[in-house]
Amino acid sequence: MTNFKRETGILHQAAYLKGKRDRPEALPVFMTTAFNVDDLDDLEATYAIKGYTYIRTRNPNRYALADLMSYLEGGEATLVCGCGMAAISTTLLALLGSGDRMLSDQTLYGETQELFANVFPGLGIKVDFADFTRPETVKEALRPDTKVLYTETISNPMITVVDIEAMAAIAHGNGAKLVVDNTFTTSAAIKPLELGADVSVNSLTKFANGHSDAICGSLTTSQAIWQKANALQQLLGTTVDPFTCWLAGPWTTPPGWPRRWKPTRRFPGSTTPAWRATPSTPWPSASSSTATGPC
Ligand SMILES: Cc1ncc(COP(=O)(O)O)c(C=O)c1O
Repeated sequence: MTNFKRETGILHQAAYLKGKRDRPEALPVFMTTAFNVDDLDDLEATYAIKGYTYIRTRNPNRYALADLMSYLEGGEATLVCGCGMAAISTTLLALLGSGDRMLSDQTLYGETQELFANVFPGLGIKVDFADFTRPETVKEALRPDTKVLYTETISNPMITVVDIEAMAAIAHGNGAKLVVDNTFTTSAAIKPLELGADVSVNSLTKFANGHSDAICGSLTTSQAIWQKANALQQLLGTTVDPFTCWLAGPWTTPPGWPRRWKPTRRFPGSTTPAWRATPSTPWPSASSSTATGPC
């Protein structure tokens, strides 16, 4: 794609109807559960090009929102899900199975923590918890069989800040993946994949949507992880309807993000408003590189 400024790029991302010859000026909402085919040969040909057949399998509005999120998060591919929790569970069930172990931040959104503490053990997934604001305690809590590290960029509601680059180095040093929930910051401020994370999860029900009328979630990652998560989504049914995808799209929201993020601190002599950990915060190891935009 042409290297547009961010705001223009956002509008271009979800503007096109992919996989169809038609080029509507504005992307319509495809409120249809299925797409007709002429005959079985046509059906096979449509399957072969991964064209649109059935709403749960593929839908133009879901794909448009996915492209937008990939652009914003700087990832290869995005899976759009029914809500943030659906994105979290789809991600982790794609990466972990019975007998596997993960290490989670101890300070998380409450329902995510409940999922890990109360549901995953019943599925045979072992979950350890540690204080992710202190890299040394994370290293100590790692086991040789830890396959996934999980944290939030800025936690809800405790507002702890994690050094994503340090966590990525620890995870990859152990052959594990790093999954980061970017809901509280959004890609307007932080792009976890650029800091080394393997998956960036978002609840688009929150700031990313911005107009409080849609429940939606996303996971942005590599093609390889996307393939696994997409296959699982088809079976778990963690998908979302076309109208919600259209509503959560770029029409009103992402260009407004920067205006939502008011600087909380301005350093003497600095013209760049940005969040910075200070020596007096309880998590000074989260370097200024965590926030790459206004936050
Ligand atoms: C950090 C974080 N992650 C995930 C979620 C869950 O998102 P949803 O309500 O879209 O399932 C929330 C919801 O508040 C959240 O704050």
